[in-house]
Amino acid sequence: MSATGVARAQQEGSGASSLGPRHSSGALLDVQGLVKHFPVKSGVFGRVSAQVRAVDGVDFHVNDGETLAVVGESGCGKSTVGRLVLRLLEPTAGQVRFEGEDLLALASEAMRARRRRLQVIFQDPYASLNPRMTVGAMLGEPLMLHGLAKDERGRSARVAELLELVGLRPDHARRYPHEFSGGQRQRIAIARALAVEPRLIVADEPVSALDVSIQAQVINLMRSLQKRFGMAYIFISHDLAVVKHIADRIAVMYLGKIVETATAEELFRNPRHPYTRALLAAVPLPDPTVVRERALLEGDIPSALNPPSGCRFHTRCRYARESCHRDEPSLAYDDSPGSGTGHATACPWWPEFPPAPTVLEGTGRDQDKARLDRLQAAFVTGQEVS
Ligand SMILES: Nc1ncnc2c1ncn2[C@@H]1O[C@H](COP(=O)(O)OP(=O)(O)OP(=O)(O)O)[C@@H](O)[C@H]1O
Ligand code: SF4
Ligand SMILES: [Mg+2]
Repeated sequence: MSATGVARAQQEGSGASSLGPRHSSGALLDVQGLVKHFPVKSGVFGRVSAQVRAVDGVDFHVNDGETLAVVGESGCGKSTVGRLVLRLLEPTAGQVRFEGEDLLALASEAMRARRRRLQVIFQDPYASLNPRMTVGAMLGEPLMLHGLAKDERGRSARVAELLELVGLRPDHARRYPHEFSGGQRQRIAIARALAVEPRLIVADEPVSALDVSIQAQVINLMRSLQKRFGMAYIFISHDLAVVKHIADRIAVMYLGKIVETATAEELFRNPRHPYTRALLAAVPLPDPTVVRERALLEGDIPSALNPPSGCRFHTRCRYARESCHRDEPSLAYDDSPGSGTGHATACPWWPEFPPAPTVLEGTGRDQDKARLDRLQAAFVTGQEVS
């Protein structure tokens, strides 16, 4: 279909393309129209002078047992989305349904009970673990809080079991966080999230602070735990190379909006949005076509205080045309034959672009690719996926 055809189909709401949001009533998590604006205060009276549009109308869903990766550059709103889903932040607008229930309508007591089903893992496990508590006490606390262990003996047994599940030893329960390496601390954070048997874990850059080989171990652990217990993940990352190894579906964010979403396989095989293509090209590969694509992503990300008019990506998009400065594209689904299921793109012009190079395939000899190769190799030899 030509770009004009796509644009027309979008306008008419007919044909192969359909405008988001796409509701998913059976999903574990269904997010619609999520908005978070942070007021900026100035002057002696602290008057609100502007709004940071951190998240500006996003729709997505997460099915039971799957991993949705949320990717994008720093400041695009990934963590804010995660915090909104966990209700660590109150949204400006929108709806978050978890297990069919409107989370935002819950009073704080009811929300506290639901928290058991919704857990979080942060980037920096050292900051998120209490340095004055032993690992055993830290893992035992949620068990007590949610009545998941009958007595002291039951609690110790469960703590030992949790430690073994994440590849640590039962005697590690007596140690403090500073006695562990970064990777081991992230394992403890995973064990703490697992303790309460959640259905969804929001993992916000869980491996970004770790060395590449350790990243692979932690991701392989997360995958094997998911296989065993069936929980879903929202995996937040700026690193598409990492995401490739865990995501079932990917949502690409730019300045508070989702600009493209598809299954991971489809997104890597057939990236459509110029921003996704530029992100993929930024994965280190010394391929001349990739260098050309990299030119797409020149310049800094504009401020969320004052996002560009029309398509927010137009200031950095090599395919931008006049109308892009004016018209804001919607996330449009394309279900035409041959298209990946559930592939949506917030750019009506993608059918006119030249094919994108497949940037994450093949094996290479070049030094530039060393990081990616190490990462891939670590995943391939990873012990923890059965
Ligand atoms: N509490 C806050 N008050 C004001 N602005 C905020 C607040 N939290 C986040 N922001 C702003 O909202 C935008 C999105 O931030 P967010 O942390 O969600 O981005 P991110 O994609 O997670 O970035 P990173 O990759 O650096 O973690 C940024 O412009 C950020 O400065
Ligand atoms: S709508 Fe225009 S500016 Fe935005 S991504 Fe598409 S071509 Fe580029
Ligand atoms: Mg973040």
